[in-house]
Amino acid sequence: MKLLILAALVGLCLAQHNPNTKHNRTSIVHLFEWRWADIAEECERYLAPNGYGGVQISPPSESIVVSNPWHPWWQRYQPISYNLCSRSGTEEELKDMITRCNNVGVNIYVDAVINHMCGASGGEGTHSSCGSYFNAKNEDFPSVPYSSWDFNDDKCKTPNEEIESYGDIFQVRDCRLVSLLDLALEKDYVRGKVAEYLNKLIDLGVAGFRVDACKHMWPGDLTNVYGRLKTLNTTWFSPGTKPFIYQEVSASHQNQSYLKWLFKALTQMTVFQVIDLGGEPIKASEYFELGRVTEFKYSTKLGKVVRKWDKEKLSYLKSWGEGWGFMPSDKAMVFVDNHDNQRGHAAGGASVLTFWDSRLYKIAAGIMLAHPYGVTRVMSSYHWDRHFVNGKDQNDWMGPPSNANGSTKPVPINPDSTCGDKWICEHRWRQIRNMVIFRNVVDGQPLSNWWDNGNNQIAFSRGSKGFIVINNDDWAMDVTLNTSLPMGTYCDVISGDKSGSSCTGKQVSVAADGRATFSISNTDKDPFIAIHADSKL
Ligand SMILES: *[C@@H]1O[C@H](CO)[C@@H](O)[C@H](O)[C@H]1NC(C)=O
Ligand SMILES: *[C@@H]1O[C@H](CO)[C@@H](O)[C@H](O)[C@H]1NC(C)=O
Ligand SMILES: *[C@@H]1O[C@H](CO)[C@@H](O)[C@H](O)[C@H]1NC(C)=O
Ligand SMILES: *[C@@H]1O[C@H](CO)[C@@H](O)[C@H](O)[C@H]1NC(C)=O
Ligand SMILES: *[C@@H]1O[C@H](CO)[C@@H](O)[C@H](O)[C@H]1NC(C)=O
Repeated sequence: MKLLILAALVGLCLAQHNPNTKHNRTSIVHLFEWRWADIAEECERYLAPNGYGGVQISPPSESIVVSNPWHPWWQRYQPISYNLCSRSGTEEELKDMITRCNNVGVNIYVDAVINHMCGASGGEGTHSSCGSYFNAKNEDFPSVPYSSWDFNDDKCKTPNEEIESYGDIFQVRDCRLVSLLDLALEKDYVRGKVAEYLNKLIDLGVAGFRVDACKHMWPGDLTNVYGRLKTLNTTWFSPGTKPFIYQEVSASHQNQSYLKWLFKALTQMTVFQVIDLGGEPIKASEYFELGRVTEFKYSTKLGKVVRKWDKEKLSYLKSWGEGWGFMPSDKAMVFVDNHDNQRGHAAGGASVLTFWDSRLYKIAAGIMLAHPYGVTRVMSSYHWDRHFVNGKDQNDWMGPPSNANGSTKPVPINPDSTCGDKWICEHRWRQIRNMVIFRNVVDGQPLSNWWDNGNNQIAFSRGSKGFIVINNDDWAMDVTLNTSLPMGTYCDVISGDKSGSSCTGKQVSVAADGRATFSISNTDKDPFIAIHADSKL
């Protein structure tokens, strides 16, 4: 027990839980499938001026190129080598992006796929993003190089090498996830190759890693790999700064029908069988010491609350966070949706809010960004043509907007600052962008002055720096509340922007005693109001 406590304390000191953002910025944005050249531009023209702390980029490692279906997004989760050329650009473009984003104080976090290589039926040849030769059947990846010695086949005890039972931790870590060739991370050689890849990125200037599929890797193997990582490049970070690490560990079973579908897509076979044994033995807490962990329950519960499913109400958010059984706040990476669950995939997919439900989505993003729990990640998506058959989207494999030859299209910016060509750019929506700024302004302030009507109208302060009021009931709201803010007139950053000494949206008068009156119709375009120290007129 004492040892455990000691280990926990040492874990806290490792600092791999700190996103290392500059200028006290608090949120990161996932620019899913963006090209490096576009991200570099976005850092300079938008993210830095609007207080975004960093970008999660899509996997930069060489991946398989799949032509049936046509260049799906998930091909990038099937590495062929650790060469840095991908659908998002070349190594030179990657380096240029990292440099330019760092120079304006925006960090880059890499989506690192280190559990596996491509699927067992990925074929043979040079259909890879840098054109490197590989042979999936023989487990031959000469440009790493990895050979059949470097995979877990002998350790896995199921007949077809697949994970069949999520109740068996040995299968989950040693067998293949939907046919993906499972690397033997217990081998010194494999650990060395993975660390070499991550260290190359650290030298280029990245601030940390989102580590894919951590549930499928032993915490001890990850401890070894993370232990080999260098400290961050001192051109942009203080000497001795450790990379930020946040690990993808889905909270409960992956959605079984999704796994079956993915297996079929990868192998054209339907033999995949998963035995659901109820309560899964692998816990997110096994990974807390190593870094932060994605809190998937946050995403599915927030969706239920804002949609008012299962009799959930906004007033129940009074105990939001650990009070809802979520992991400790200083271990959590949180999001309204991510690239998996916005497609209805991962556990609890149905309740997850996405840009498809934009009004409710903005309310959920507002709650996430106003509330102190966790490190927050904003999703930035692209549009795809959804096509439901029996509740399953047949097109959820679709990759980003692309040219006829499969290359990813640039992100054009319209005169009104929205994005074109089917790029959604939720991070540019005024309500979301302004709440990212709100979170920076109120950073470190406690949640106070909680108010609710026992239903779906709530309000709270962040110390004396910011205040948010939300009406998700089906009737109007007209209340006078204590904001704790200094007396003055404030610009509501949801309905508009402060511009010089004027405001393009609603104005809120805070009296000398800190109280203000809020009227929000349930039919308002966005039924919430947020004011903060920097929106004072
Ligand atoms: C960051 O926050 C700290 C503590 O609130 C403050 O002292 C410091 O000036 C801030 N730094 C920047 C760059 O805003
Ligand atoms: C850190 O980044 C700078 C600028 O790109 C580069 O010149 C330097 O070599 C990098 N440091 C290391 C240790 O790679
Ligand atoms: C799993 O996915 C299917 C179809 O994609 C969906 O109908 C079902 O609700 C999902 N189950 C869970 C628990 O999310
Ligand atoms: C793919 O098509 C785009 C747009 O037509 C073009 O700019 C690009 O050079 C092409 N790429 C290759 C590899 O042919
Ligand atoms: C408003 O809230 C603050 C902090 O909770 C408290 O100190 C103050 O007395 C309250 N003011 C009024 C008018 O209730």
